[in-house]
Amino acid sequence: MSRRKLVVGNWKMNGLRAQLGEVEAIGKAAAEVPEVEVGLCVPATLIAGATGCAGAAFIGAQDCHMKQSGAHTGCLSAAMLKEAGATWVIVGHSERRTDQHETSADVAAKALAARAEGLKVILCLGESLETRDSGKAIDYVLNQLAESLPEGAAPDWLSIAYEPIWAIGTGRIPTMEQIEEMHSAIRTALRQAIGAGAADGMRLLYGGSVNADNAAEIFGLADVDGGLVGGASLTGAKFAPIIAAAA
Ligand code: 13P
Repeated sequence: MSRRKLVVGNWKMNGLRAQLGEVEAIGKAAAEVPEVEVGLCVPATLIAGATGCAGAAFIGAQDCHMKQSGAHTGCLSAAMLKEAGATWVIVGHSERRTDQHETSADVAAKALAARAEGLKVILCLGESLETRDSGKAIDYVLNQLAESLPEGAAPDWLSIAYEPIWAIGTGRIPTMEQIEEMHSAIRTALRQAIGAGAADGMRLLYGGSVNADNAAEIFGLADVDGGLVGGASLTGAKFAPIIAAAA
């Protein structure tokens, strides 16, 4: 099953309009490798501006609310993000599961809300260092997958990112064997959950301290279909070689 590589930047709480030049540079880097699907999930305040200059890259959001509208001060619905220009959204990032206390049930509901508006979704999973050290990482992540997987999960609108919490922003990554083992376990669990055809078409991204030096090796692993990149996606200079590494 051939799966188009997917490389997505997550700008987190970084970026003002002054950084739109970086979006443009990344869009140009994406145009160099049409065989790779490239996107940038920017702060919501930048979605409209970024959409105008992202070139070959798609623009996504980093979270959406599970409701369509209502009394939820400060929150944004999938329809609002779509109207601003987002075509994708990340749900269940560990920083939101931790900081905003989002549960896996919340994450599944957010994914469905996004899909209802026609947004594509990246669903994030990942274990803490404590869980990794206790030898229970695979059990933990598969349980998170089971609880977060939205109804109707299918490769045309959903991708999954494995992001070990202890690798995010730390410069420390799992061994290649650990990444392969986790991705293979996720693929096997997906086959059970949604059927072999859908599971084999679904893109599984690795995230956590991906950089220009390690990207090619990680993206070359079995069952790794690209990456979700934080710090190294903030500039064209850093992100372009990572995009190229997926080609
Ligand atoms: P870093 O690439 O900065 O480790 O962040 C990974 C991440 O959390 C992407 O969602």
